[in-house]
Amino acid sequence: MRKVIYFFTGTGNSLVVARDIAEIIGANLVPIPSLIHREEITSDAESIGIVYPVYNQGVPFIVKRFVDLMNDLNSKYIFAVCTHGGSSGISLEYLDKMLHEKNGSLAAGFSVRMPYNYVIPSLKLKNFFRSFVLKEINPKKQQEFYNNWRLKLDDICRVVQSRQKRKLEVMAKAIEHLVDFLNLRETLQKSTWLKIGGFKEKTNLPFQESLQLLDHGFTSDHKCQSCGICTKVCPVENIEMVNGRPVWQHHCEQCFACLQWCPNASIQFGYATSTGKRYHHPDVKLSDMYWQKTGLK
Ligand SMILES: Cc1cc2nc3c(=O)[nH]c(=O)nc-3n(C[C@H](O)[C@H](O)[C@H](O)COP(=O)(O)O)c2cc1C
Ligand code: SF4
Ligand code: SF4
Repeated sequence: MRKVIYFFTGTGNSLVVARDIAEIIGANLVPIPSLIHREEITSDAESIGIVYPVYNQGVPFIVKRFVDLMNDLNSKYIFAVCTHGGSSGISLEYLDKMLHEKNGSLAAGFSVRMPYNYVIPSLKLKNFFRSFVLKEINPKKQQEFYNNWRLKLDDICRVVQSRQKRKLEVMAKAIEHLVDFLNLRETLQKSTWLKIGGFKEKTNLPFQESLQLLDHGFTSDHKCQSCGICTKVCPVENIEMVNGRPVWQHHCEQCFACLQWCPNASIQFGYATSTGKRYHHPDVKLSDMYWQKTGLK
């Protein structure tokens, strides 16, 4: 039986998860960004996996666009694994809804705790919205997440190998449904994140899509050596080098790959990320990130 796992990653957590599962169940591993410019996506696999990081308790915009491009999914066995840094919310329910529009549905959905790769409030009141910091990751905790993933891996593989159904692993379901009921994602959450990203105008884009504008918050400082790595790891060609420095083009996935992979920690988001330690999964290399974008090994 043909199996394929599609994945998206910014700092490697989701790639490791996708790669580990693919090795055990014998699936073909395909990077989502390498397909995203196609007019449509058809898969001849009977089993399809989708692995991605949770963004704002939801699904990255690129994963939504990927599902939108897929042809009829009727009769496919589909499973998903989302990686997250503490709360996956109802991300898998959102993905399931997207798949329904393609006549598909999630037979099983798993969430995997991994190191958090984004920013958190620094609790400074002055310039609050621009003072978010990178979360410190305790090395012991980090190893614990990796070990726990190895413990969960076999169970996931058993379920998907035998095409079983499994309840979607969601967190804080009642709260997240209330947030949706009150439309807080499209109002409070959207305006807060746009402010954090330093975007001062108004936009009618839905919240998930409006994250593309948060790259107004990125700058590169004096440590930049013009190496161009940020342009190469960006999964969606959102960075151009101008006079040896990165310039963001406002169709960002907010994956944080540019900030986290810059070898000189030169890329900042807001005013308070310069002292934070950069993170990427130790088993993922720059060449994996280039492959994600191009599909070429
Ligand atoms: C834009 C953005 C939003 C995020 N939102 C959440 C979130 O709502 N809940 C959570 O637990 N982690 C969140 N995270 C953390 C990632 O989901 C987590 O670190 C994930 O494992 C990263 O996967 P990757 O290494 O494959 O990119 C967010 C990260 C980013 C970049
Ligand atoms: S990766 Fe860092 S050092 Fe290299 S060009 Fe980009 S900002 Fe400059
Ligand atoms: S600009 Fe940076 S954060 Fe935005 S998609 Fe590219 S690598 Fe990701």
